[in-house]
Amino acid sequence: MFLGVNIDHIAVLREARKINDPDPLDAVSIVKRAGADQITIHLREDRRHIDDNDAKRIIENSQLPVNLECAIDKEVIKKVIELQPYRATIVPEKREEVTTEGGLDVAKNFQNLKEVTEELHANGIEVSLFIDPDPKITKLSSEIGADWIELHTGLYSNIHAMLFSNLGYTKHSINELELSRAELKELLRKSTKELEDITAYANSLNLKVAAGHGLNYHNVKEICKIDGIIELNIGQCIIARSVFTGLKQAVVDMLELLK
Ligand code: PXP
Repeated sequence: MFLGVNIDHIAVLREARKINDPDPLDAVSIVKRAGADQITIHLREDRRHIDDNDAKRIIENSQLPVNLECAIDKEVIKKVIELQPYRATIVPEKREEVTTEGGLDVAKNFQNLKEVTEELHANGIEVSLFIDPDPKITKLSSEIGADWIELHTGLYSNIHAMLFSNLGYTKHSINELELSRAELKELLRKSTKELEDITAYANSLNLKVAAGHGLNYHNVKEICKIDGIIELNIGQCIIARSVFTGLKQAVVDMLELLK
């Protein structure tokens, strides 16, 4: 299993003070030495964490391939082409959201996504679409000509956290949602099966499959067992752990679970 480490949160910490420290570029060589395979960053329209200068320096200097997450916004796509990452992962973006909630509305944006995919391909950039695990959306992603889909694991992660942890991905408790443990277990089984089925379907359409969002040291093992998912992109829990253990150890701990 390949691991992409999302380092946006290092820039989040910097932006809390609006100074130059810590520098997300410093994370790249540590992540590489720890054994991860890819750096993932998100250039948001509002540049609330990673900015153009970070993206430029990271892409120019990274010894690992850089997967650049971005919205289907004209200006951002122009910037992505200028930056020349190895891959662009197109994600939905809402200004008011804390993080990427839900996958792309591929049906609504079909023509736009197709044109952007062609433009990125013409500029030598691989394209991944961040989508919810749904057969129709997967089929449309293949028709668009994407190389990859990245399956949104937020629902799986939420259910897992409600069942097994008071911490982790969600702040909801079982009581708040008034679901019994048996109901939650069934939901978790269904959500895992959905990820399995969509992965098999996507592979049959020649799409490579990545997954991410809300994955952590507690819930990642089940996702690793899914045949056909070849890459995970993980950010929050690795950077959170690194506060206590250092970044290298936090990445090594995650890679151990991915074996
Ligand atoms: N993949 C995508 C497309 C994302 O938008 C994010 C969050 O930025 C991640 C993976 C990583 O999610 P997390 O920070 O919850 O591990």
